[in-house]
Amino acid sequence: MEFLFQDLNEEALSTLLEIQEEAFAHLENPDFLRRNSEDMLLSCLRPPHVCIGAYHKNTLAGFAILYFGEDSEENLGKLLSFSTESLFSAANIKLVIVRPAFQGHGLQRTLMLMLESRAKQRGISTLLSTVAPDNRFSRQNMIRAGYQSQGLYQKYGGLTRELFLKEI
Ligand SMILES: CC(C)(COP(=O)(O)OP(=O)(O)OC[C@H]1O[C@@H](n2cnc3c(N)ncnc32)[C@H](O)[C@@H]1OP(=O)(O)O)[C@@H](O)C(=O)NCCC(=O)NCCS
Repeated sequence: MEFLFQDLNEEALSTLLEIQEEAFAHLENPDFLRRNSEDMLLSCLRPPHVCIGAYHKNTLAGFAILYFGEDSEENLGKLLSFSTESLFSAANIKLVIVRPAFQGHGLQRTLMLMLESRAKQRGISTLLSTVAPDNRFSRQNMIRAGYQSQGLYQKYGGLTRELFLKEI
């Protein structure tokens, strides 16, 4: 299957919300994902953050978000007590969703690699991401992409998340 990759902007907001709902409808366990608000997704579609979409023909098959949390609570480096300087050199792989009809083509890994190179261009040296420990597809893709587990943390009002880190 052929995909075309493209940076997404605010015009993609309604499609991202639709894909997020579609993902919830298919999740094995609703705790695998945290529902992002419309406002949050909108901010992810605006600079400095980067959202890359994978299109098959005219359908958005999936997307991934690189989020620059800087010194805010969004920065997952806070869980590891990063210094302010380290927080500014870190970014989150915030969300990756591939529509069920397009799963199995390695899109999560491709999108994460593309975000990695964009992060490097912006002077980022550490990427962080959280995954639900039972989300075997996402967890396996993280490990194959060279991320290392930093252990389990309680996040998002009591959900357990495994924190992954990659020095790039
Ligand atoms: C995690 C996710 C992005 C992976 O999608 P992907 O990149 O297309 O997955 P892969 O190409 O690595 O798939 C590898 C195998 O797992 C299967 N697979 C992937 N995701 C699956 C899912 N959610 N349910 C069932 N099977 C799945 C694929 O069909 C493929 O099987 P095959 O080897 O027999 O062909 C996708 O499952 C998804 O969007 N899940 C919901 C949202 C989510 O959990 N995001 C990650 C946390 S932010």
